[in-house]
Amino acid sequence: MELIADRLNEIKKQKMYRVLTYLNAPQGPRTIIDGREVLLLASNSYLGLCNDERLKAAAIKAIHEYGVGSGGSRLTTGSYQLHRELELALARFKGTEAALVFNTGYMANLGAVAALADKSWVVFSDELNHASIIDGCKLSGAKIVIYKHCHMGDLYQKLKEFQGYPSLIVTDGVFSMDGDIAPLEDIVQIANQFGALIMVDDAHATGVLGANGGGTVELFGLKDRIDIQMGTLSKALASEGGYIAGRQCLIDYLRNRARSFIFTTALSPATIAVALAALDIVEKEPARRKVLLENTQWLCSRLKEAGLQIHENKTPIIPIIIGEAERALQFSQILLAKGIFIPAIRPPTVPPGTSRLRLTLMATHSYEDLNYALEKIIEAARELEII
Ligand SMILES: Cc1ncc(COP(=O)(O)O)c(C=O)c1O
Repeated sequence: MELIADRLNEIKKQKMYRVLTYLNAPQGPRTIIDGREVLLLASNSYLGLCNDERLKAAAIKAIHEYGVGSGGSRLTTGSYQLHRELELALARFKGTEAALVFNTGYMANLGAVAALADKSWVVFSDELNHASIIDGCKLSGAKIVIYKHCHMGDLYQKLKEFQGYPSLIVTDGVFSMDGDIAPLEDIVQIANQFGALIMVDDAHATGVLGANGGGTVELFGLKDRIDIQMGTLSKALASEGGYIAGRQCLIDYLRNRARSFIFTTALSPATIAVALAALDIVEKEPARRKVLLENTQWLCSRLKEAGLQIHENKTPIIPIIIGEAERALQFSQILLAKGIFIPAIRPPTVPPGTSRLRLTLMATHSYEDLNYALEKIIEAARELEII
């Protein structure tokens, strides 16, 4: 244990020590933290559906019909009719032959990459891909080749170097900590030249991008060109779980070989029912996406005008780059004292020297919320002499 205590002290010395923040109210534009109401600018519930009455009713109905726990793994007793309905709905939504639900987005990436690639394969992975992709790559035993973030010249060169091997290119559709969008059209073109499969993680794009909320793959009109579409039920869809969508043979294979699908108890019926009801809202209420992106553009440009280092994204993820971990943490703490919650994101989640506040918007933030956020962020940045 002494060894562990030493490691922990080292983490503290590096200002990388993490603690939990507990909410005491539903996740909406405003929530309660430590007994105080705060403006929440940190949720991945981009469409603002976590406290939606229709979704709560769907969960309650499922509990009445099916009970609470799922009682078994998907391949034994844990698959309910609702799981089948959700998988059919996801396949239709993503424009694929089939889909398979995993217990989390993390498990979908981990299980799919590890089941698809083996040590005879080469996996080409963007340097800023999510940790679940990185872990899936490691678990697969494949040769892992990291290419520079969204750098198509680098990807091309690396594919050329490993020509002839079975290969998979894997990328986030929207990068979780930067909010930028992968150049999927270019990736498809390069992959075709080398016969590589493509996997896109649309965790942050599902429900948010594309006319129907289908994500980056829909945005670029590439549903027939992307072999493996991954997504999560836990962000815009306000539930929990992840999925892989693609050809029927891919889904049949993963059902038989993805260990993170096989060796775990299925998600509860209520969780599945929420995701199903949320999918319906995503498709029927495009105005939520429109408001969300308008709000994002408004806040991004105001923060940039104020002198903050902002990437102007077409997604609701607005990283405010600070640099040093300690200063990012201070920024976040000052804002919390002013009634705004935006967490500081530090290494290893982001590269050293790029610690930041990761601000995210929801479709349900009001104009007053945005103005308040702008005023207080500028105030805090001045106090820290960032601007
Ligand atoms: C890009 C990306 N992929 C996968 C995941 C994992 O999804 P989940 O939270 O559903 O496990 C996340 C976030 O958590 C993510 O940001």
